Amino acid sequence: MSAQVINGKEIVSDYRAQIKDQVASLQSKGVQPGLAVVIVGDDPASHVYVRNKAKACEEAGMYSEVHKLTESTPEQELIELIEKLNGSDKIHGILVQSPLPKHISEERVVEAIEPSKDVDCFHPVNVGNLMIGKEGPLPCTPAGVIEILKKIGADIAGKHAVVIGRSNIVGKPMAMLLLREHATVTVCHSRTKNMEEITRQADILVAAVGKAKMIKSRHVKPGAIVIDVGINRLEDTGKLAGDVDFDDVLDTASYITPVPGCVGPMTITMLLRNTLEAAERAAG
Ligand code: GUN
Repeated sequence: MSAQVINGKEIVSDYRAQIKDQVASLQSKGVQPGLAVVIVGDDPASHVYVRNKAKACEEAGMYSEVHKLTESTPEQELIELIEKLNGSDKIHGILVQSPLPKHISEERVVEAIEPSKDVDCFHPVNVGNLMIGKEGPLPCTPAGVIEILKKIGADIAGKHAVVIGRSNIVGKPMAMLLLREHATVTVCHSRTKNMEEITRQADILVAAVGKAKMIKSRHVKPGAIVIDVGINRLEDTGKLAGDVDFDDVLDTASYITPVPGCVGPMTITMLLRNTLEAAERAAG
């Protein structure tokens, strides 16, 4: 039987409508949530992402600023901008788009962001809070995956969730959020032996590898929920493809996310949620 393709558009538009209402309600109390997005250099894909983030903010009724800095901007200048944004009452969330040019330390830049405004959840304080289950921003892509699972009515507690990938942005925090939902979690990565044997045990399989169409039906247990975090541009056609070979897995999984159009826009939705919640906390 064919898997149900998760309707990302519907989930995202419902969620954003809800956020828009909450923004309006906060605004009626005199606070408009504000996001500052900073981009350094001229990577075209990053500029598209940044535009989409600022547009989503405005559509939700939030204030947004985009700061475009040239490739040769010194690290200190970027840090001074962040410090200015840390002190701005209009700004509740600060996002510095990665990747940054090689001469700039991502670590120093992330640590310059005031943790309460770190809507990516990249700051070590927020990463630590995530580990111990303390309130704070949640990492956008993994939080979006959890919301998608909840929306389709997946019963996460007690299920075996396998995450493929161990990046700081997705794989590791994804494992942590699934654990919070009481899943039994396994993380696979490039050094994992017999990966197929492990992924075939997954009730919930999350692919976050960055390799187009790597996950085939032989990796998937019949009836598993498959969430594809990958966004890869195919060299031959220029089209976008996930980490999952969608057509191959379609008849094995019970649910599958399309790429593009599900995890990507849900990630931006979680950025809006983090910005709204930061504004709510600042409003007291
Ligand atoms: N570059 C690619 N994805 C992301 C993200 O989620 N946040 C930031 N800041 N940069 C990115």
